[in-house]
Amino acid sequence: MLRRLHSEQPESFAFTPANQAWAEAQVTKYPEGRQASAVIPLLWRAQEQEGWISKPAIEAIADMLGMAYIRVLEVTSFYFMFQLQPTGSVAHVQICGTTSCMICGAEDLIAVCKEKIAPKPYTLSEDGKFTWEEVECLGACTNAPMAQIGKDYYEDLTADGFGKMLDDLAAGKLVTPGPQNGRYAAEPKSGLTSLTEYDSGKTQYNASVQLQMDIKEGVKRIQGDEVPLLTPWVGKDGVVAGRAAAEPTPKAPDAPKPAVKQAAEAKKAEVKKAEPKKVEAEVAEAAPETLKEARGGKADDLKLLKGVGPKLEETLNELGFFHFDQVAAWTEAEVAWVDSRLKFKGRIERDGWIEQAKKLAVGEETEFAKKAKKDGIYDE
Ligand code: FES
Repeated sequence: MLRRLHSEQPESFAFTPANQAWAEAQVTKYPEGRQASAVIPLLWRAQEQEGWISKPAIEAIADMLGMAYIRVLEVTSFYFMFQLQPTGSVAHVQICGTTSCMICGAEDLIAVCKEKIAPKPYTLSEDGKFTWEEVECLGACTNAPMAQIGKDYYEDLTADGFGKMLDDLAAGKLVTPGPQNGRYAAEPKSGLTSLTEYDSGKTQYNASVQLQMDIKEGVKRIQGDEVPLLTPWVGKDGVVAGRAAAEPTPKAPDAPKPAVKQAAEAKKAEVKKAEPKKVEAEVAEAAPETLKEARGGKADDLKLLKGVGPKLEETLNELGFFHFDQVAAWTEAEVAWVDSRLKFKGRIERDGWIEQAKKLAVGEETEFAKKAKKDGIYDE
């Protein structure tokens, strides 16, 4: 299948403030110089926010991670879970068409999609609320035929039930995910034949269904401040690993379950911690001296600074920085000024640009510069 950028693109892309804080926190999970490892989580959050991945989103994420645009496009076009065209404002429906589902009625479900959404996949319905596609096995074969809608699986479907489900979603109603024929999970349709003692103690829904019924965000576009969004690297005490201790953890008023409540508190603590940093940078800014062009027409190779890839070097040049001694001379307030003009704040301090630039400016080498020159490997 040919996967390319959609013919119609939005003017720009930006994460919501909460998603931006989340994205920056994601990057901290990876070792220095390996920010590119965060590309998939960031693309995924962009898709959760917008419903699909646009060219401006690819460029914004590439800028954040110091990657070449083409590298991010390669990742996006390789993985089919990334949608390269606008998806329905309510939901993108994925029908499994592989063997088990096919012999159990997937073609009937696809017929419903063609009738209710659009005759062709990846096409917006007339009201713009839905798109659909056929996908390969989603691993719920025991409950065939099934569909993934947003984050949830809807299993043991019939054409009629599925059609009604789409109507309900279009009307903004909450639809219960999971098996639609009364099955609890993936037990035999005729009932349990073993471990029957567990049958009596079960809750109304299985755990996956219960989670959706609690948080109700299965088809929701994610703004980043929802409760909860799981951030496993946030400790039980609300402290992000490797960072300073958090302020007192706020209470999640309507958290329905202990696990949900804990994740909600962790998320709030994470967003709160990101805020003071921004204010600090805004207050302390002072514009450094810049150049119109490189002295003597020859710029230093700023990519020898760990954390600076080709895209960031271009941005720095556009801002008027061409030489290591310029970077080495930045004051704290000037770092704040430059920082606020880079898409990914905090990088200068975290990667130690100034210390590196001081050495490189006087002809000394850094470990990274040596390796980059030897192997031709630069941060991307
Ligand atoms: S065949 Fe449909 S989920 Fe596996």
